Amino acid sequence: MTTHPAPPSFNLRAPRYDDVGIYTAFMADPQVTIWLEDRCQRPVHFHHALAFVLGEAWCRLAIEYQGRFVGITGLEDYDPCNGVARFFIVIGDRDASNRGLGTAVARALVSKGFRDLGLRKIVSNYFAPNVASKVIHARAGFSEEGVQRQVGWRRGEWVDHVLVSILREEWQGLAASPSLSGTLS
Ligand SMILES: CC(C)(COP(=O)(O)OP(=O)(O)OC[C@H]1O[C@@H](n2cnc3c(N)ncnc32)[C@H](O)[C@@H]1OP(=O)(O)O)[C@@H](O)C(=O)NCCC(=O)NCCS
Repeated sequence: MTTHPAPPSFNLRAPRYDDVGIYTAFMADPQVTIWLEDRCQRPVHFHHALAFVLGEAWCRLAIEYQGRFVGITGLEDYDPCNGVARFFIVIGDRDASNRGLGTAVARALVSKGFRDLGLRKIVSNYFAPNVASKVIHARAGFSEEGVQRQVGWRRGEWVDHVLVSILREEWQGLAASPSLSGTLS
């Protein structure tokens, strides 16, 4: 495990129109999209990106790192009856990868979900071969709930989806967690 010198400084803000073209370019990079949903395996055009980046959302935030837009994160599929939402993250700027940013953003969203949005449980999932996603979820305190077998066809084989979650009391118990190493605006 790499010891990063310090959690990267980042900013989470409302998405803007000028993010959409950049996000469209991220979606043209197979290394970014390979472990995203099936709809991202087909060409993602500007109007698709527009609908995603600026469409109605419960909690969708642009990630800024070193002053530039590098991705999108959020909490979606909000279930008010049960206090549950689903975490997602896409860092499309590969110069921002493997620097601890995904981990820091995941921790920030978990904190926001429980502290600011009153959630009881945050769920998420990732394709089993997506090691970076597995790492950030584990470091943000998610535990594995189960596996959905052979959910997607990637790189010539069927791959499993790993279902993970974190409960409010687990987040509260994460002693000395540097949960908000960036800023939320
Ligand atoms: C998944 C994602 C958010 C991770 O963000 P990130 O900023 O690179 O994450 P971090 O740097 O905090 O942590 C990633 C860790 O995984 C490790 N890692 C990445 N790929 C790896 C691999 N193939 N094998 C082993 N370790 C790997 C990195 O080395 C790093 O660990 P380290 O800190 O010990 O060096 C980002 O890669 C991304 O958005 N990918 C495209 C979209 C996507 O897959 N989203 C998630 C869908 S569930």
